[in-house]
Amino acid sequence: MRSHYCGELNAAHIDQTVELCGWVHRRRDHGGVIFIDLRDRQGLVQVVYDPDVEAVFATAEQVRSEFVLRIKGRVRRRPEGTENPDMGTGEIEILGKELEILNRADTPPIQMDDDDVSEELRLRYRYIDLRRPVMQERMMLRSKVTRALRNFLDDQNFMDIETPMLTKATPEGASDYLVPSRTHQGKFFALPQSPQLFKQLLMMAGMDRYYQIVRCFRDEDLRADRQPEFTQLDMEMSFMDEQQIMGLTEAMIRNLFKDVLGVELPDPFPRMTWDEAMRRFGSDRPDLRCPLELIDVADLMENVDFKVFAGPAKDPNGRVAALRLPKGGELSRKEIDDYTKFVGIYGAKGLAYIKVNDAAAGRDGLQSPILKFLPDEAVVGIMERTGAETGDLIFFGADKTGIVNEALGALRVKLGEDRDLMQGEWKPLWVIDFPMFEWADDRWHALHHPFTAPKVEDLDKLESDPGRCLSRAYDMVLNGTELGGGSVRIHREDVQEKVFKLLGIGEEEAREKFGFLLDALRFGCPPHGGLAFGLDRLVMLMSGATSIRDVMAFPKTQSASCLLTQAPSEVSQAQLRELNIRLRAKPGDETAG
Ligand code: AMO
Ligand code: AMP
Repeated sequence: MRSHYCGELNAAHIDQTVELCGWVHRRRDHGGVIFIDLRDRQGLVQVVYDPDVEAVFATAEQVRSEFVLRIKGRVRRRPEGTENPDMGTGEIEILGKELEILNRADTPPIQMDDDDVSEELRLRYRYIDLRRPVMQERMMLRSKVTRALRNFLDDQNFMDIETPMLTKATPEGASDYLVPSRTHQGKFFALPQSPQLFKQLLMMAGMDRYYQIVRCFRDEDLRADRQPEFTQLDMEMSFMDEQQIMGLTEAMIRNLFKDVLGVELPDPFPRMTWDEAMRRFGSDRPDLRCPLELIDVADLMENVDFKVFAGPAKDPNGRVAALRLPKGGELSRKEIDDYTKFVGIYGAKGLAYIKVNDAAAGRDGLQSPILKFLPDEAVVGIMERTGAETGDLIFFGADKTGIVNEALGALRVKLGEDRDLMQGEWKPLWVIDFPMFEWADDRWHALHHPFTAPKVEDLDKLESDPGRCLSRAYDMVLNGTELGGGSVRIHREDVQEKVFKLLGIGEEEAREKFGFLLDALRFGCPPHGGLAFGLDRLVMLMSGATSIRDVMAFPKTQSASCLLTQAPSEVSQAQLRELNIRLRAKPGDETAG
């Protein structure tokens, strides 16, 4: 139906007759001349209709926003002074000769050039929202990204293999989406939280290098970078150790950024132990664009006359840390109060601070509600350790280690953004040497998943000192976002059993849940490892979007529903009967079965 895309036309096409199809982006009537901006996937072009050709002009007059048109006309240079440098096709326009209305449109609920539409409306009318040039660009970028990744992996001999969607639960820490079985009444499939176990089985099956761009399902609290169904670039490889796996995958990401964005990422990516990341940045996904760092001061506070500090300072599970903000002396009382509220989100009970009015004047140069509690040695120690200068402000966090890390970790990034301190555009790194386990709610939990191998030298700590046992896991972090993570896996049955036991998964439960894996480990399992990238997060960062919803064609809302199709929805009694399922009455509802 057409000879070109609207957006691809330029001065090289002048004097050619072209046929285009697209949507009416805008129509303007300029006293006798009608301008139509016609839009397709590639962009906009201006079409002009003169009243000379009466019939065509009459049709042009009927045209409204989002009508679908097919036009024919001659490309010409725009009259001098009317060029539009902001438009790809801004040097030219089409002198319209023919015009066919392929379809009409009601007044659209979303204006194409309105950047301030509510997300609710956008999701409800997603097919219109997706017409907006910015969304078209994001979808195109996403497609370029997956193509570049596939090309790289293809060159590296990876095989694309599909794994089941109707399966048994894979523990990745979230709740499962369950699917009732009609043929096995009372039984359920789980949608995969990841293909973890299947990809390991593929290594046992001798596939050597596997990848898949695959949907994963997790019923968990949603945030800007979390959706109930999302896409992973999932990979697994045999006979490679963590250094080789990290080397190969960071080369893939470097290639991708070069190919798609023309950006050179560092080679190699810096690596940081989990311990260092937590100590310096309070986070296992540190944003290295922000120069601020947490500084431990607990040893200076053990004996101060201020319980808020002395308590955590003496507690082996506590932390007291300082965060120096250069030029922070400018902060108003209100701003400090707002930051105090901000850290409150993370459970911090307050946000003590010292303003350094004159660094040379000792105590007298400092201003702080807590100064009176601090002996001279503590004050001198703080100033030395933080290197604070005149005009700076030092924040303090004191609490359980987890709370201080979360609160000050988030605060440093927020300050970095608010105070314009971020340096450099792209700061990737690997976080390595994660602990195998963390202790919470009176039991051990796997920090990654239970199939992650412990470091060889820590094998004996599995039983003697699990808290100090490090794993062979690694996370790739970019600008404060965890892009991907993985590990070398356990390939020995005895080690796998020990880890299950430590996690409180008894023999019977292990058999019932993972019997197939334990069996497979006995039939010739190669050493193997891999990782998975969050594809949505990767594209979000590459496109500059602030939410993964903006790089997914049909995302769910924050409360995990689809406004477009109104899913999830009720099902008929007949369907439920077929599945042998009866719903419990909702509180206050007498009518349900
Ligand atoms: P993990 O659970 O770390 O590892 O997931 C890998 C990556 O997937 C992305 N991600 C998400 N993206 C959007 N919404 C979510 N709800 C969501 N959850 C995770 C993140 C994360 O880094 N099987 C292991 C990988 C392995 O060990 O090979 C796994 O799934 O970017
Ligand atoms: P208070 O004695 O509760 O008035 O606190 C004195 C100062 O210490 C205030 O600036 C509080 O914001 C701060 N503060 C209170 N609890 C903490 C904490 N856990 N960590 C850091 N600062 C705190």
